[in-house]
Formats: sequence, structure tokens, C-alpha cells
Amino acid sequence: MDNYMDKMNESVKFIKEKVNNIPKLVIVLGSGLGSLADDIKDKTIINYKDIPNFPVSTVPGHKGELIFGKLEGIPVIAMNGRFHYYEGYDLEKVTYPIRIFKLLGVQTIILTNAAGGINEKFQKGDLMIINDQLSFFAESVLRGPNKEEFGERFIDMSNLYDKDYINILKDVMKDVTGSYQEGVYAYMKGPTYETPAEIRALRILGADAVGMSTVPEAVVAHHSSIKVIGISCITNMAAGVTNELLTHEDVKKTALKAEDNFKKVIKNFIKRI
Ligand code: HPA
Repeated sequence: MDNYMDKMNESVKFIKEKVNNIPKLVIVLGSGLGSLADDIKDKTIINYKDIPNFPVSTVPGHKGELIFGKLEGIPVIAMNGRFHYYEGYDLEKVTYPIRIFKLLGVQTIILTNAAGGINEKFQKGDLMIINDQLSFFAESVLRGPNKEEFGERFIDMSNLYDKDYINILKDVMKDVTGSYQEGVYAYMKGPTYETPAEIRALRILGADAVGMSTVPEAVVAHHSSIKVIGISCITNMAAGVTNELLTHEDVKKTALKAEDNFKKVIKNFIKRI
């Protein structure tokens, strides 16, 4: 545990030496949203590989950098490239950056992702506000000795995705796209897409969308009292919902098509919180 804190303090010290005023808001850029990074002004970019003890991403197309700067005049940290359990990291590594953000003083985190649509009212390219999550099929990221420095052992999960921020986000989405979708994000460990039977089961359990990220990060952020907001880009209908087979190429294509709306939503949202 001490060793863990020592490692984190080393990462934090390195970042603080490079950046003067650390923003209090983080945006985690999911698949296809990477170009939001181009709109950030007055940037300081730090590569993950240069930060002591920071994990390094293995997914092609996922960059590995923290960008400190201003988006629409608002100080932000963009995390360009995240870590997934399916890459082989243990969950502590997957969520290492989130605890670093906490130690840097971050108060709010916007988690974005690509997800498969389970709710038949959804269409490819829709943006879904995550209002809750399911993660029955994965061990908790908080398993093991509790990290008392960050939060309590047993935590309430009823406001995991901050309700006040969800309401603001609904207004923003109505303004930007004319409507909004919201729903429950089901976490699957991947790296395979799900089977149609799994998707039917998830629908019965109450899921609206499915993906392979976000949940570990959301739980660790919530544990350490960082406010969490989550947005999924529905890049495809989940397995078996239509006859289409799933490919990573198609997922990326749809994410790119939705990118403009996604960026507008984020920019407007951060101006209103
Ligand atoms: N399933 C899991 N993860 C995903 C999907 C999906 O259908 N689409 C994008 N990420």
C-alpha cells in the first residue's frame, strides 16, 4: 500500500513540475472523440510513457497522452487514450490515472465511450447519457484492502452518475441535437463483442447499451468523491439486435460520424457546469 502511494506520489510530482495550474475537470476521450484534443488551446502535452509509473496503452488508434489546456476557455485535462481490462492490465492499472487525478485536485470527470445499443429505440450515432450501470460479470475494481486515503470501504452507488449534471446534460443535448437518449450502461470485460444470447440477457437485466470501459473508472472516481458524468456514443447495435456483424472498423466509422455532435455537447456542457 505504501509502495502504491509512493508510486502515485512520484507520478503526481512529475506532472506538477510540468503544469502550473492543474485543471479541476477531466475529459476521458473514448474511441472517435480523440479529435477534441485538437480544439484545446494553450496546451501542455505529457506522454504517458514519460510519467513515472503510468501505464501505457496497447490499443491501436488509442493515443497515450494527457493534455492540459483550455477548451472553450475552460481549463481541462483531456485523457487521450485509456486503459482497458481486456488489454491485460489488472484493474489497479486501469484506474491508476483516476487516482492520480484525485491527487492532482480534480473534482469532476467526464467519461466518454463507444458502446453497442441494446435498447431498440436507439440508432447508430445516438449519444446516450449514462444514468446507471450494470457490472455483474466483472470483479469490483475496489476489491482488496480499502485505500482509505481515497474513500470508505462501503460506498453508496445511487448517485454514481451525478444527477444534477445529468439534468444539465439533458438540456445541453436537447439544444445541440434536438433530443437525447439516456440509459443503463452494461460493462463487459471483452475483448470479444458479446454473443446475441448475452445481449438478450443484458436486455432482460435492464441494460440499454454495452461496452468494455468506463465502469472501473467511474467506480474509482466515485469512491474518491470525484463527480462522474458518462456519455456513450452508440456506434453499433449490439450483437443480434440487427443482422449486421460487428467490426471494429464500423464502430470507429460511426464514432467519427458522431464526433461533431459529441464535441458540441461536451463543449456546451463544460460551459454550463
Ligand atoms: N459491445 C461492447 N463494446 C462495444 C460495442 C459493443 O457492441 N460497441 C462499441 N464498444
